[in-house]
Amino acid sequence: MEETYIMIKPDGVQRGLVGEIISRFEKKGFKMTGLKLFKCPQELAEEHYKDLNSKPFFPKLIGYITSGPVVCMAWEGDGVVASARKLIGATNPLQAEPGTIRGDLAVQTGRNVVHGSDSPENGKREIALWFKEGELCEWTPAQAPWLLE
Ligand code: GTP
Ligand code: MG
Repeated sequence: MEETYIMIKPDGVQRGLVGEIISRFEKKGFKMTGLKLFKCPQELAEEHYKDLNSKPFFPKLIGYITSGPVVCMAWEGDGVVASARKLIGATNPLQAEPGTIRGDLAVQTGRNVVHGSDSPENGKREIALWFKEGELCEWTPAQAPWLLE
C-alpha cells in the first residue's frame, strides 16, 4: 500500500494547529500508521531536506524545522502521496487554494505549517528516516468497508 510522510512543522505545533491538520487527513479517509511529537536534530533535518542543500534558503529552512517540536506522521492509502499534497496545497501559501491546509492556515513559504512527501519512493524513504522499527502500527480501521469498496 502507498505511504506518505506528513509532518506538522514547528509553526503548526506552536500555533495550536495539530488537531486541525490531523483531522483533515483523518476525515479524508486515509489511515494513520505512525504518530509522534519529536524535536528534530540538525543532522536529521539536513538529511530530510538534502535535495535542497544548495538553495540559499537552506540554513533558514534547517533553523525553522529544528526550532521546536514537530509532529511526525505516516499515512497509508491508495494515491495517498498525491492526494495529501493536494490537501496540503502549494508550497507558497499565498498561491495555495482556499480549502487546502496552507491556503487556509498559512501566509509565508518559510512558515507553511506542514510537509508532505513528493513521491511514493520518498514517502517510504522519509518514513524510514523519521520512524524507528516498532514505532509504526499496522491495523484495520473499523470504517474501512465504508470507505473502500
Ligand atoms: P515540503 O512538503 O516541506 O517538502 O514542501 P514542498 O514540497 O511544497 O516544497 P519544497 O520541497 O520545494 O521545499 C521544502 C520547504 O522548504 C518548503 O515547504 C518551505 O518550508 C521551504 N522553502 C522552499 N522554498 C523556500 C524559499 O524560497 N524560502 C524559504 N524561506 N523557504 C523555502
Ligand atoms: Mg518537498
